[in-house]
Amino acid sequence: MTAPTDPSRAAPPRATFADEREIDAFVETLGRFERREIDAEAWRAYRVVRGAYSQRQDGCHMLRIKLPQGATGAAQLRALADVAGRFSRRYGHVTTRQNFQLHFVRPSDLEPALRRLAEAGITTSGAGGNAVRNVVACPLAGVSPDEAFDVTPYAEAVTRHFLRHPLANALPRKFKIAFEGCARDHVATAIHDLGFRARLRSAGGRTVRGFAVTVAGGTASLCTSGTPLAEFLPAADLLALAEAVIRVFHARGDRVNKQRNRLKFLVRELGFDAFRALVEEQLAKVLAEGPPRLPFDPDAAPVEVPPAPQGRPEPPTVAEIVARLAAAPPRGPGEPPAVVPVRHPPPEALAAFVATNVRAQRQAGFSAVTVSLPQGDVTAVQLELLAELSLAHGDGAVRFASDGHVVLRWVPAGEVPALFERLAAAGLGRDGAGSAADVVACPGADVCRLAVTRTRGLARLVDERVRERLGAAALGAALPVHVSGCPNGCSQHHLGAIGLQGSARKLGGRAVPQYFVLVGGGAGEGGAAFGKLAGKVPARRIPEAVERLAALYLAERREGEAAGPFFARALERVKAALHPLEQLRLEDASPEDFVEPGASEDFSPETQAGECAA
Ligand code: HEM
Ligand code: SF4
Repeated sequence: MTAPTDPSRAAPPRATFADEREIDAFVETLGRFERREIDAEAWRAYRVVRGAYSQRQDGCHMLRIKLPQGATGAAQLRALADVAGRFSRRYGHVTTRQNFQLHFVRPSDLEPALRRLAEAGITTSGAGGNAVRNVVACPLAGVSPDEAFDVTPYAEAVTRHFLRHPLANALPRKFKIAFEGCARDHVATAIHDLGFRARLRSAGGRTVRGFAVTVAGGTASLCTSGTPLAEFLPAADLLALAEAVIRVFHARGDRVNKQRNRLKFLVRELGFDAFRALVEEQLAKVLAEGPPRLPFDPDAAPVEVPPAPQGRPEPPTVAEIVARLAAAPPRGPGEPPAVVPVRHPPPEALAAFVATNVRAQRQAGFSAVTVSLPQGDVTAVQLELLAELSLAHGDGAVRFASDGHVVLRWVPAGEVPALFERLAAAGLGRDGAGSAADVVACPGADVCRLAVTRTRGLARLVDERVRERLGAAALGAALPVHVSGCPNGCSQHHLGAIGLQGSARKLGGRAVPQYFVLVGGGAGEGGAAFGKLAGKVPARRIPEAVERLAALYLAERREGEAAGPFFARALERVKAALHPLEQLRLEDASPEDFVEPGASEDFSPETQAGECAA
C-alpha cells in the first residue's frame, strides 16, 4: 500500500534548526575556557554536545554538522561548501549517520563556522556527546516505490521535539534514532536505540499509519539487534513513546560506567519486561500530562510533489565545472581526496552509471540518482556543484545517505544523461554504488584519536582492485564493504557483508597493520545480523582478500541471494579462501607489509584518549 500523492499537502521548505543564541553561549563558554574560568573537562563536555570534538592533531577540532534525515537543500549545501572551503581542508566527510564532518578547524574559526551554518538553518546542537543524536531516515523516503509512506515528516518532528529538549543533551550516553519506510532497511533501524519502521493498518474502513518499533540496539562493544517494543505504534503516539523512552533512559541509565551505559546495557541489566514496564509507566504519565502532538494529521503528513519544470537555472557547463574544480582543489594536512574530472564520458559509461546508480522513483518519469563519494569525501567545489545541479535537474535538495552517498531526487528521467555528464565532469560520476568497490570508511587514523589503522588508503586500494580485476560483474552486485580503524565501528563494519576492523600484529618485534575480516552482516526484516570473524589478514593483502570474497559471491550465490546471507551461509568457505592470506612469516615479509596503505612511514599504532563517551 502506498499513500497517494496529493499536491494540496505539499511539504513546505524546512524551517531553521539553528538558534543564534546558542552560538553566543558557545562563544562565551569558549572564552571562559580560554580565560581558565572552566577546566578542560567542562569545556570538552560542553563542546562535544555541540559537535566540536578534539582530533588526533592537537590544537584543532573535528566539527560534526547535523543534517536531520540527511535532507540538505541547495542553501545548506552552499553553507557546507563555504565552511569547508574557509575553515577546513576544502573537503569534508559524509558520515554513516547523515552528518557532515570537517577536520582541522581551529578554535577561533568555530564561531564563524557555526554562524555561517546557522544562516542556512543548520545546527550542530546534539551532533555529539551524550545527546539525542541526528535522527536518520531512509534517503529514498518520499520517492521509494515500495515504501509504506514517507517517514521524513515524522522523523523531522522527532528531531524538533528533542532539539533543545531539557533532557536531550543531558543523557547518560548518546541516543540514536532511525526511521525507515521501505521494505528494505536502508538505515539499519535495528542497531539504533529507537528504530521505527513504517507500517499501515486497516481500521474501521480506513488506513491508519504507524510504526513497528525496536529498542536498544547498537554495535561496538556489545553488538545487539534492537528488541521489538511495539508491533504497531499508531503514528499519533510517536512523540509520546519517544519521550517516555528518553525519560526512562535519563532516569535509569548508568552515569558512572562510561563503557557500559548505552541503552542496550540498561535493558540487559533490568531485563526487557522490567524495562518495558518502566516505559509503559512513563508513557501513561506523558499521555496524562497532555501528550506532545505531531504538527500535522498523523495519517496524512505533508507529501513531496514534483518540482516545477519552469524557472529552473541552467546547469554549469562541463568546461566551467572543470575550471572551478581546478581553481580550488582540496588541500592538506593529510592526503586530500583525488578528484578526477571526466570530460564527455562515452555512452558505455552512462549505461554503467544508470545500471548501478539510478533508480526509478515511485512518481512516474522521475529518477533518484546516487552519487557515490569515495570514502564519503566531498570537496567544497563539489558541494557547490551539487547545489547547482540539484536546482537545475532535481528538486533543489539532496539526501545524504549512510553509505557515504548523496542522492539527487526528482530528476526527470530524460535529464539523467545531461546530469551524468556534469557529475562526471565534477569527478562525481563513479558507477558501482553499493558494490564491493564502493567501500564505506570511517575517518580512521588520519584524524581519529582512537584509531589503530588508517582506513582511507586501504579503501582506495580495495576500490581499485575490485574495478580492475572483477569489473562490471562486481560493480553491478550489491556487496557492502565497510572499514573501521578500530572496534568502535563508526563505519558500521559489523553490518557489512564484509566488515574490516583495523588492528595490529607483531612480527619480528615490529608492528604489522592487519584487519579482522568479518562476514555476513546486514540489516534485514528480522533485525540486524552482525558479521562473524572469518580471518585476520595483513593490511596489504586486504584488497586481494576482498577480491577473493567478491569473486566467491559472484560465482556461488543463489538466485536473488544477498551478499550478507551468502557469506553467513558460506562462512567455512570464506575462512578457507582467507586462510592462505593470513599467514605472514618474517622471511616472506616485504618492507611494504610494515607500512599502511596511504602512509609512507612504518606502522606504529598509537591510540589516544578519545571523546566518544564525553
Ligand atoms: C569509544 C569511542 C567511540 C565509540 C564507542 C563509537 C561508536 C560508534 C558507533 C557504534 C558508530 C556507528 C553506529 C551508528 O551509526 O550508530 C559511530 C558512528 C560514528 N563515529 Fe564513533 N565512536 C567512538 C568515537 C568516535 C570518534 C572519536 C570519532 C571521530 C572523531 C567518531 C566518528 C564517528 C563517525 C564519523 C560516525 C558516523 C556516525 C555519525 O555521523 O554520527 N567516533 N560511532
Ligand atoms: S571506528 Fe575507531 S577509528 Fe574509526 S572513527 Fe570510530 S573510533 Fe575512530
